[in-house]
Amino acid sequence: MTGKKNILVIGSGAREHALVHTLSRSGTVREIHAAPGNPGMLPLAKLHPVSDAACASILPLVKRHGIDLVVVGPEAPLVAGLADELRSAGVEVFGPGRAGALLEGSKVHAKKFMDRWGVPTAPWDECTSLQDVEEALAKRSAPFIVKADGLAAGKGVFVTKTREEAFLAAENLLVRGALGEAGKRIIIEDALSGEELTVLAVSDGATYRILPPSQDHKRVYEEDKGPNTGGMGAYSPVPWVDEELLERVRRSILDPTFDGLRHDGVPYCGVLYAGLMVAPDGIPRVIEYNVRFGDPEAQVVLPLLEVDFAEMLFACCEGRLSEFRWEEPSKWAVDVVLASGGYPGTFEKGKEIEGLENVSSMEDFVLFHGGTTFSPEGKILTEGGRVLSAVGLGASLEEALVNAYAGVEQISFENMHYRRDIARRAIIQRRGGI
Ligand code: AMP
Ligand code: GLY
Repeated sequence: MTGKKNILVIGSGAREHALVHTLSRSGTVREIHAAPGNPGMLPLAKLHPVSDAACASILPLVKRHGIDLVVVGPEAPLVAGLADELRSAGVEVFGPGRAGALLEGSKVHAKKFMDRWGVPTAPWDECTSLQDVEEALAKRSAPFIVKADGLAAGKGVFVTKTREEAFLAAENLLVRGALGEAGKRIIIEDALSGEELTVLAVSDGATYRILPPSQDHKRVYEEDKGPNTGGMGAYSPVPWVDEELLERVRRSILDPTFDGLRHDGVPYCGVLYAGLMVAPDGIPRVIEYNVRFGDPEAQVVLPLLEVDFAEMLFACCEGRLSEFRWEEPSKWAVDVVLASGGYPGTFEKGKEIEGLENVSSMEDFVLFHGGTTFSPEGKILTEGGRVLSAVGLGASLEEALVNAYAGVEQISFENMHYRRDIARRAIIQRRGGI
């Protein structure tokens, strides 16, 4: 790669802040831009308010600021075809086109793809009528899993204890149109049991590279109680994931997935998120594919990278990932998400955040903004449900955990809540406690 590059990151959450932060550590980057970005990025990036992530809003920014690479954070613009449109206009993009993004954009498509290419996943049925739903539920036992086919911003998956609740969820989608078009087609699938695991792989279409594995904490309360959220915290790497398991993930999941995409003629330059369930016998199965970095997984995986991240992304775009020299990360990371009162239900906004200045110079700690905004006086206020990601780094999982919570101690806003048990199970397991 010759000359320093200007990079534009699309999105506004903590994942995108982590992308900006990691790009800022790259020696090959000149300017970082974000659209729309968030207040936390300001020291590192130029922010551009945009009303949406459509090509008509993004392309003028690319031209005006001499952008060499666009990195798309969230799934919706990818599913809508932003990467295809930008590429047609001659712009380099890290993120798959519409055909690749359909692995996240349609669960029916993803399931058919997995069945076709022999990628292990839960047996499933497609349902478009209540008759289909009755039949699919009758042949299964609790817990029941109902999923909207299309994108639903994390609100499209229902895990219920009874058939009646599952039927109601399906009826809400199919008949009452609870999620609009996204729920006009649903899938009902077998429940998988075991440990959830996220494996991210960056790809240039020809080859791929696994990033450190991570684990999300989806439920709002400690001990995995309460409703599902966008993710209340994460850690990376995962102590119980050994080379043997990673090899199994490569052989049984990622190889057939990327081979399948190639055989289908689908170019894939971007990151593939394999959301896995690892059964007690060690067999991994796919719960879902995503076509972008996870949130909060990005906040723990990206800070660990010891390679030049921008160079890696360019290597993907230019089809030379196989030549890219990878350095195995040596650190650990823990992310504790600080959420607004009421989240994941209706949540409060506009609360002043205290203590931000206390953490800016802390060692082995980094704070990513997920849902913040400026007040007219320039104060930083809460704006989203998941407000901040408090990330601790360390030479061990325990050290990273201590550093994460040391940062959390410094920050407060009214009715802030967070889980105190991020990574706890992994640490107890390693000590032989479970
Ligand atoms: P998703 O939005 O697809 O990540 O699903 C949300 C959560 O629902 C997952 O992280 C799992 O905890 C759970 N889930 C989804 N599908 C299954 C399944 N087949 N078996 C067990 N849990 C599931
Ligand atoms: N952490 C789950 C997701 O990004 O979809």
